[in-house]
Amino acid sequence: MTPELGVCYYPEHWPEEMWAADAARMMETGLKWVRIGEFAWSRMEPTPGDLRFDWLDRAVETLGAAGLKVVMGTPTATPPRWMLDKHPDMLAVDAQGNPRKFGSRRHYCFSHAGYIRECARIARIIGERYGRNPHVAAWQIDNEYGCHDTALSYGPSALQAFRVWLADQYGSIEALNTAWGNVFWSMEYDSFDQIDLPNLTVTEPNPAHVLAFRRFGSDQVVAFNKAQVDVLRPLTDAPLLHNYMGRVLEFDHFEIGADLDIATWDSYPIGFLSDRLEADEAHKTAFLQQGDPDMQAFHHDLYRAVGRGRWWVMEQQPGPVNWAPYNPAPLPGMVRLWSLEAVANGAEVVSYFRWRQAPFGQEQMHAGLQTPSGADAPGMAEARQTADDLARLGDVAPGKAQVAILFDYASDWAWTTQPQGAGFDYFRLVFSAYRALRRAGLSVDFISATDTPQDYRLILAPGLAVLDDALVGRVLNGCDLAIFGPRAGAITRDFQIPAQGRPGLPNLDCSVDLVETLPPESKRPVVGGGAAAHWVERLSGTAPDLLRFEDGTPALKGTDGLWYLAGFPDDTLWDRLIAKATDTVNLPIHAMPQGLRRRRTATHDVLINYNADPVTWNGIEIAGCDVLFLERDDI
Ligand code: GAL
Repeated sequence: MTPELGVCYYPEHWPEEMWAADAARMMETGLKWVRIGEFAWSRMEPTPGDLRFDWLDRAVETLGAAGLKVVMGTPTATPPRWMLDKHPDMLAVDAQGNPRKFGSRRHYCFSHAGYIRECARIARIIGERYGRNPHVAAWQIDNEYGCHDTALSYGPSALQAFRVWLADQYGSIEALNTAWGNVFWSMEYDSFDQIDLPNLTVTEPNPAHVLAFRRFGSDQVVAFNKAQVDVLRPLTDAPLLHNYMGRVLEFDHFEIGADLDIATWDSYPIGFLSDRLEADEAHKTAFLQQGDPDMQAFHHDLYRAVGRGRWWVMEQQPGPVNWAPYNPAPLPGMVRLWSLEAVANGAEVVSYFRWRQAPFGQEQMHAGLQTPSGADAPGMAEARQTADDLARLGDVAPGKAQVAILFDYASDWAWTTQPQGAGFDYFRLVFSAYRALRRAGLSVDFISATDTPQDYRLILAPGLAVLDDALVGRVLNGCDLAIFGPRAGAITRDFQIPAQGRPGLPNLDCSVDLVETLPPESKRPVVGGGAAAHWVERLSGTAPDLLRFEDGTPALKGTDGLWYLAGFPDDTLWDRLIAKATDTVNLPIHAMPQGLRRRRTATHDVLINYNADPVTWNGIEIAGCDVLFLERDDI
């Protein structure tokens, strides 16, 4: 498969006379896909029932006639103003009880039955109109679920749906009281109708209540998406997709992914570095105009799993964005590097956001491939160059990695519910593991807690909140060595300490007797180097100690094929652990210099240099902000 490029375009923002020239220029740039429609509801249906699709018909025709494949968006992330007159209670409500009002986007509650019906209605209208249109080659449902912190709502529709969901999950109020431990602080209920949403309580609500609400919240997003999938499926044979985000964990992406054909995500490397990544100032300065060297690949690999092998970048940062605290420009070469890196990780399509910078609205300072007046912005030449690179490269067959990380959204919900220590964060823990594997030159796959992995040398499952024997069995059967912990099997699904103790790993005599959390400046050193930070467990049991803390307590215990880790490793400890584990399973590793990353596909060994300066590795020089595709086995 030869990867392709695309762009996001808003025909409703520009005079119709410009469309044909825009389309021709997109083709000249080597772009093959164009996404449209996802925010255009007010132009599709200016007043209820007044459908105006003539302009969209002409837009699809103009783009298609130029040779572009259209991704049609359903416009449900931006309900028009009249929708609120029709459904005044459709707005989401924040945890403080305030409505999240009209005037931007994503102003809806996922549980509002009336709004879900409106979404199904507009999806049907668009599906009937364009489902068999030869130019429409894919469908995007909604836009970025969860963006602007919108996955959860604390309003009346959510409350009503939550009670129904609870009754369905627990069957009886007695069962719920027991499962949640409501005898604690006399929190017992007599009926499901008494249960409120877990906000505005005096002090923290019962973690079981919060975790149930988080599971419910995820199910609502899945159901919202499914309502449009069900409408569109019979109307089109084109693939259905959604564009996910970076470090947004509020809903189970694997579950939505199961209903769709392709996972896509929106990659803004420089924005992410400044607004959603823990790193020291030196790191943030070194990669200010490039983005973190692992953040993009992490999501590429994660969404490859969510898409069951099929994934795209739907929105690729092309220049400075408008929404991060600081918005520097990418260094020359980075737009091309990000695009080619995605390809190395298996992307079928990389699509830039957006074609031309908007002169109005919230994102007028957000770069496009063109400036507002239609001149080329710096990203344009790099898009062109990437298209040439892809044409030269031809097929890039994705390869299976030898190492996998088990990623579990529900573990994040659990640990944000009760972090126990301010530094303990699920994403941060998993990302630190991912980074360590990449520092060792390894390529990484992700698996979910319901997958049946096969033929991995090593599987890491850090922070996996709930363990059951079937899951542990699948992981152990799927690899030579599995490493669980820290904080594995620490709770039940209903947020109680498991009766059999923690972590409850079959075949490993190891139990967690005590947990401590530490402020960032305090670490628990491990004999031989490295330390645990944020989170430390005191382990006992007959399983051999493979590493010890300097105070003599075990830092790592294990037997053949199964290890348990007692703390949140700092970088040095992760590096030692990966070296030890890969040595145990005879998997060669190659230390990578800072900022240089390697990704193996079935056909290529790809070297990606996030540094501004050239780096030499294994006798190969890679220029700053450059990517080298080497035939496999060249290294
Ligand atoms: C994404 C979103 C786009 C646009 C972009 C700006 O989150 O899907 O519509 O807002 O960010 O960077």
